[in-house]
Amino acid sequence: MKELAKVQIIQGLLIMPAVQELGRRHADYGVQEAHYASVGTALLWALRQGLGPQCTSAVKAAWAAAYTLLADAMQAAAAESAYGAEAMQTVTSAEG
Ligand code: HEM
Repeated sequence: MKELAKVQIIQGLLIMPAVQELGRRHADYGVQEAHYASVGTALLWALRQGLGPQCTSAVKAAWAAAYTLLADAMQAAAAESAYGAEAMQTVTSAEG
């Protein structure tokens, strides 16, 4: 179990750059922070519909945690690059 947890952490770290890039692409698609909550709610609703009684509270909690982890990383990366672009604009316009 301990080994499995280690493998999962390493896998998580390895996919993070791709998740951050996914978040930046989503900002380009026009996705805003509030949309992540709606999609998260829709995901849990769909799981309840699809799994029925197998959608236990443990299953729901695991999906909610996974979605939140991804969504938070995506939003943070999108916000960071928006901040970077804004700062760059300020510097270049100050330079005249
Ligand atoms: C954890 C959250 C999410 C994940 C993992 C996810 C994943 C993906 C993936 C893999 C794609 C394929 C295109 C690409 O790789 O760039 C995609 C496309 C897209 N997603 Fe998401 N998404 C998430 C949240 C959202 C949210 C909150 C919205 C807003 C409603 C959204 C809207 C879109 C749109 C508009 C596209 C482009 C569709 C197209 O033009 O083909 N996604 N998403």
